[in-house]
Amino acid sequence: MTIPEIFETMEYGAAPESAAEALAWLVDQGDRFGHFIDGAFTTPSDGFEAKNPANGNVLASLSQATQNDVDAAVKAARRAQPKWEKLGGPGRARYIYALARLLQKHARLFAVLEVMDNGKPIREARDIDVPLAQRHFYYHAGMAQLMDSELPDAQAIGVCGQIIPWNFPLLMLAWKVAPALAMGNTVVLKPAEYTSLTALLFADICLQAGLPKGVVNIVTGDGAVGEMIVAHDDIDKIAFTGSTDVGRRIRAATAGSGKALTLELGGKSPYIVFDDADLDSAVEGLVDAIWFNQGQVCCAGSRLLVHEPVADLFYAKLRTRMGKLRLGDPLDKSIDVGTLVDPVQLQSVSEMINANPAGERFVADVDVPEAGCFYPPTLITGLHPADTLMQEEIFGPVLVSTTFRTPEEAVQLANNTRYGLAATVWSENVNLALDIAPKLRTGIVWINGTNLMDAAAGFGGVRESGFGREGGWEGLAAYTRPKGTRRPLKEIAAFEGDGAPQDTVDRTAKLYIAGKQARPDGGYSRGVYSKNGALLGHASLANRKDLRNAVEAAHAAKGWSATTGHLRAQILYFIAENLVVRHAEFADRLNNLTGSRSGAKEVDAAVQRLFTYAAWADKYDGQVHGVPIRGVALAMKEPVGVIGAICPDEAPLLGLVSCMAPAIAMGNRVILAASEPFPLAATDFVQVLETSDVPAGVVNILTGAHADLAEPMARHLDVDAVWSFGAAAHSAVIEKAAAGNLKRTWVNHGMARDWMTSDGEGRAFLEAATEVKNIWVPYGE
Ligand code: NAI
Repeated sequence: MTIPEIFETMEYGAAPESAAEALAWLVDQGDRFGHFIDGAFTTPSDGFEAKNPANGNVLASLSQATQNDVDAAVKAARRAQPKWEKLGGPGRARYIYALARLLQKHARLFAVLEVMDNGKPIREARDIDVPLAQRHFYYHAGMAQLMDSELPDAQAIGVCGQIIPWNFPLLMLAWKVAPALAMGNTVVLKPAEYTSLTALLFADICLQAGLPKGVVNIVTGDGAVGEMIVAHDDIDKIAFTGSTDVGRRIRAATAGSGKALTLELGGKSPYIVFDDADLDSAVEGLVDAIWFNQGQVCCAGSRLLVHEPVADLFYAKLRTRMGKLRLGDPLDKSIDVGTLVDPVQLQSVSEMINANPAGERFVADVDVPEAGCFYPPTLITGLHPADTLMQEEIFGPVLVSTTFRTPEEAVQLANNTRYGLAATVWSENVNLALDIAPKLRTGIVWINGTNLMDAAAGFGGVRESGFGREGGWEGLAAYTRPKGTRRPLKEIAAFEGDGAPQDTVDRTAKLYIAGKQARPDGGYSRGVYSKNGALLGHASLANRKDLRNAVEAAHAAKGWSATTGHLRAQILYFIAENLVVRHAEFADRLNNLTGSRSGAKEVDAAVQRLFTYAAWADKYDGQVHGVPIRGVALAMKEPVGVIGAICPDEAPLLGLVSCMAPAIAMGNRVILAASEPFPLAATDFVQVLETSDVPAGVVNILTGAHADLAEPMARHLDVDAVWSFGAAAHSAVIEKAAAGNLKRTWVNHGMARDWMTSDGEGRAFLEAATEVKNIWVPYGE
């Protein structure tokens, strides 16, 4: 098109970005890459090709890491870690800052290389991916600077294995590497096999920044290399972003290994448009929600829910807008939609759409280049909420939709998914939008905006979207652990005896479910004996049916989560007061049960613990993150939901209280498996609960064998998190079973906790008892 013609038609002309510099960099590297290990590139070896998905051209050849390569990378990271940590926050901050500066200096090169490797439009790589990656390094240089003063009790985890996907190759690298380095960890990172080039360019700038060798190591290859990292004995933490299926496999593979784990997985995020929304803005928002990065975004607004009164009008506007989207050469600055990442992804999207003909399809009438992995923007309306395309992640430029009649129905549809990453709400009515936000079961809510991200605001989901947050203060928890070392837990066996009861009254303690004392389903109990063999009573043996009843009761008590912190504090104070009244009786009971003389001290500590969490109930507040857009992100602390806990065997009263109190203070409902050898302190405690106004179902107490309860608790789809402070063996069982619906777990891996001290309470418990939901709201100018 000539310039006069452009003036005549006002059509967009081509505005190609040059590939020359990026190609020259590849040539400079010899077009063949090894891995980046211990501060140097290794000799290239056999592997695979990096291809440009827009035209199929080979960009470079890459090496497939072997077990030896992974071992060498882990070894280098291990060697480098102590020194890197000892450098101190400000020392590390200087390097991280230098990386940020270099990312900025080479921004155009990074953007162009990313586009050639991934197929995303240059506008996005240039204006979103690369600036956000820089921002992440700047932000975390600051976190390193502040670590010593603001997180005095935290230390690095050690060596982190990081596995990232292909949709935001450099940005995901930044999300993983920056916080890890800031907190004093070293890393072994594996980029996705389709998109390794910007990670290798990043290795180059690590050299330019003079980063100490071994702090960042990058190995390339496919899922098999990912598996080697996951399985490696000398890695302390795995951080993964990618598909839910692989996330589930990693959860199962790391079960019981003691490795820390964070998973950022898929989504099917609802995009809710109310009838009072600014419809034109909402249409424009959808361009960013589902056609951004060709829909290959874990938090893409891929499930459109439209208020019935405006549905026809909204769909009409949307179809018109779709017809204006420009597909084409990703390096062209005037295109909106580029190519999918690889022919494999194009095939998977096409197959999924072809295999599911439900609904009415609208394919945008736009020019689609014949060569390259292009897929036309598509809208499918009139779907049923249960249809495959409404439930499964398509990960392509395909929007699916249905309508709703009332706000309640919108919430119900929005939550009708196994995922829980993000949600978008469009309404001009602030009351409505802020009424809906807390009801959405997601880690992120955007109001009148979408796909907003910033280093200051934690990113991450709930349910099968994974666990853990990246970014913000909350993201640092994933890369730190408490200072000090724990000693191994001593396993405690129940006392045996054949002593006769001390009186003739039947003393079989029941279970406590739904606010009532309940006989165990199996009808079995066991004798509980003192150290010298005297029969103290019988404890019921709960089975999986009792557990199911307890979960049902906990669910029915969901009103507890909507109560105020003030009310929950009052009830915790009341429990404490009622325990104080029975101090002597509990002290005696504990002495008899455990054969120690520390009963009175334990009751004192339990009372104090209740007071502590009563104090916290209305003070563990969220934050407001300042983000560099017209808005703020409200980081709200929400209850996790239903928490199952295997309570410690030792400290039978204090351990139970230490699990119960933080959980219910934060609005959760709990199922507590009491100390296995010493269950009768828990069953006595039921009487305290019964006189303390705790609503039925908020606290449920089971006794019996932990081994019978741990697995079904972790497997149960309606339990949102499981904690275990019991015997070591339960940790592995719980982590493995939790892979089913990817619930959060917090287990001891056989390490002891000192329940009598501050080790047994505080922020770690409050963090485990809450989810952070970041709600982005328009604010200011
Ligand atoms: P993937 O989950 O297989 O790949 C992500 C990363 O994990 C890559 O680096 C890959 O090499 C690695 N990996 C693969 N198998 C592994 C294993 N067994 N152990 C350790 N690491 C392993 O994603 P894939 O197959 O490339 O894409 C398939 C689908 O996954 C997409 O269509 C999309 O639905 C979803 N996906 C979601 C992402 C998200 O950000 N939520 C990102 C990428 C993909």
